[in-house]
Amino acid sequence: MTITQDASSPLVVVVGGTGVQGGSVVKALAESDRPYRVRVFSRDATKPAAHSLVQLGVEVVELALTLENKDAVYKAFAGAEFAFLMTNWWVHFDTERDIAEGKLLVDAAKAGGASRVVWSGLPAISRLSGGKYPHVWHFDSKAAVTEYGRQAGVPFLDLQAGNYGTNFLGPPFAPTKQADGSYVIALPVKPTMQLPIIDAAEDYGLFVRHALELPVFPDGAEIVAYSENVTITDVALHLSQRTGKNVVFKQISADQFHADLAALGFPPPIVLDLAEVFLSLDELGWKVDAVSEGLARRPRTWAEIVEVTDWSKVVS
Ligand SMILES: NC(=O)c1ccc[n+]([C@@H]2O[C@H](COP(=O)([O-])OP(=O)(O)OC[C@H]3O[C@@H](n4cnc5c(N)ncnc54)[C@H](OP(=O)(O)O)[C@@H]3O)[C@@H](O)[C@H]2O)c1
Repeated sequence: MTITQDASSPLVVVVGGTGVQGGSVVKALAESDRPYRVRVFSRDATKPAAHSLVQLGVEVVELALTLENKDAVYKAFAGAEFAFLMTNWWVHFDTERDIAEGKLLVDAAKAGGASRVVWSGLPAISRLSGGKYPHVWHFDSKAAVTEYGRQAGVPFLDLQAGNYGTNFLGPPFAPTKQADGSYVIALPVKPTMQLPIIDAAEDYGLFVRHALELPVFPDGAEIVAYSENVTITDVALHLSQRTGKNVVFKQISADQFHADLAALGFPPPIVLDLAEVFLSLDELGWKVDAVSEGLARRPRTWAEIVEVTDWSKVVS
């Protein structure tokens, strides 16, 4: 454990430290043989995840990173040597707010003195598709912040998290039981569609730490953090092998997908967003560079993620 309070050690300011990505970043920093001071934020510093971080030696600041709290946000980044930034569109579904808060984080990290900023972005689907898929708001808002960050005058890396393995534990990815006892993963993509897979909670931080510790920071780069590309057919195959149940992938139409999500209670804008994620990534792929060397350890493959995950609530 190398998280320290020693003022001579670099301060890493981590957004989302009580969550999956930020939590993974803190874990990876704690595993480094380099000493770091770590500061995270939470809207509720009394929650168990915040307490666990305090036990690790992390400074937890209770603060909502919003425009209303602009002054406090700037103050919270003061003295940062490194910053890890993320936003969570799924908390409010407000694209303009997501962009504005992302930009605020970039500005605050820069003003705080950060020499390396790692941002958790996503591909600019609207631009990459030539406007064909304009409704993937939760990707496009992150891409807008990436564009801003690259021109902000601070060393800036867009380090995108690949597709979380845990996505297959819930809708719309999760296998659903059929009348004959088999399970189907039904998505509007080709069976050969590939997903860059990551165990985000365990492994995303490896990539962030690697970027912070590289002799030369890949300023301006766009990298995806994942262990391997897996076809959606193989996703199902490994689930079959692990659970002993027949799990298969089935390609469905966009209309069917819309109807399925609506039946599950997803509101119309979310249905549109999610449908276009799949359609666009199936058509365009997820085209960014990968890091395969130099990580502190090898990230988990899909087979390994499947092995350590409890599937009993989904396939039983
Ligand atoms: N699922 C995937 O395959 C995938 C892939 C790539 C990217 N993503 C993106 O990843 C993001 C979610 O990241 P995650 O999985 O790490 O989420 P998460 O586990 O739900 O954690 C969200 C974190 O953000 C913090 N947070 C939210 N609003 C905040 C605010 N106003 N001020 C301060 N902190 C705030 C939360 O802190 P408190 O609750 O403690 O305040 C928490 O630590 C989403 O934008 C998603 O689109 C997902």
